[in-house]
Amino acid sequence: VTDRIRTVIFGLGPIGAGIATLAASRPDIDLIGGVDSAPDKAGRSLGDILGVETGNARVLDDASAALGELRPQVVLHATGSYLPDVQDQLIACARAGANVVSTCEELSYPWQRHPDLAKKLDAEARSNGVTLLGTGVNPGFVMDTLAVALSAACQRVERVTLTRVVDVSQRRLQLQRKVGMGLSLDDFRASVGAGRFGHVGLAESCWMLARGLGWTLDSLDETIELVAGEGGLAAGMRQTATGTANGRTVITATVQMSAAAERPRDEIAIDGAPPVRMVLEGGIQGDSATAAIVVNAVPRVLAHEPGLVTMLDLPVVASRGA
Ligand SMILES: NC(=O)c1ccc[n+]([C@@H]2O[C@H](COP(=O)([O-])OP(=O)(O)OC[C@H]3O[C@@H](n4cnc5c(N)ncnc54)[C@H](OP(=O)(O)O)[C@@H]3O)[C@@H](O)[C@H]2O)c1
Repeated sequence: VTDRIRTVIFGLGPIGAGIATLAASRPDIDLIGGVDSAPDKAGRSLGDILGVETGNARVLDDASAALGELRPQVVLHATGSYLPDVQDQLIACARAGANVVSTCEELSYPWQRHPDLAKKLDAEARSNGVTLLGTGVNPGFVMDTLAVALSAACQRVERVTLTRVVDVSQRRLQLQRKVGMGLSLDDFRASVGAGRFGHVGLAESCWMLARGLGWTLDSLDETIELVAGEGGLAAGMRQTATGTANGRTVITATVQMSAAAERPRDEIAIDGAPPVRMVLEGGIQGDSATAAIVVNAVPRVLAHEPGLVTMLDLPVVASRGA
């Protein structure tokens, strides 16, 4: 078959590996190679790393060389959370003529935190004729796109309350570390103070939601508190973002990620007319859903005109899995 989508995976940590494994199973995707700088992956066969059949696809550590040689139509990107750190990687993809679907949290709605960088990436995408999207389960879906979609049933929206509770005891080590699991109170405070701690992308979800509802926020404040666990150590954290408009609180978004969290769930409550409340008991499993959303977004990204887009710019993304 000649019209399969030539696709490269950029970043083969647990998330990138999950995305690549799903992509390899899709008949419309041809997974032709990988990029990863980790010494235990670079130079190896992609199929060996994933434990699935990917023909003679290999993993290279030099992105520009790999992209120049492979000329993919799409890069699935999962290397980092912070846009300034990954901007050069995204630009290398665009310059190689590749569309990008990335799990970079700050790319999901980059226009508020990094407006200049967003403009620069948009210009790079347009001049190279490609589309760039940041997505995933959160940010990207459960606390933003899904809430905006639910608001279609409301004549009026006064306030949105978003709650995501995740039991991290079964989740990957990176995530457990990111939420402070096992830290003492002093170490937890020091980590919060040092920055780059907690869930990245909560603010991006709130800005995306506000944008979707046509709201301009006056302020968005975030707090992180410790969730106590056994022996006085942290079980994890609770992070809350509060957005105001016209002097009123209009968005309250809370992510709790802790070991043995009570009643894991995703909840969206819209105060308005009519009020709408949706609870997904158990919550959406983040790693698996992120792989799904990234791979399912590929046809939408390919069909979109060039530029830097968000999930709000795309038609509803649907599962393509059999
Ligand atoms: N939006 C969402 O809902 C969502 C959901 C899940 C995850 N994420 C984000 O997705 C990202 C990936 O997650 P993860 O847990 O798999 O992270 P990870 O374990 O840090 O994996 C990242 C991989 O990318 C490689 N890498 C980093 N910089 C590179 C570069 N410049 N060139 C080539 N390879 C590079 C790393 O290699 P080294 O080990 O050598 O650095 C590593 O193998 C994270 O930022 C995570 O927060 C977002």
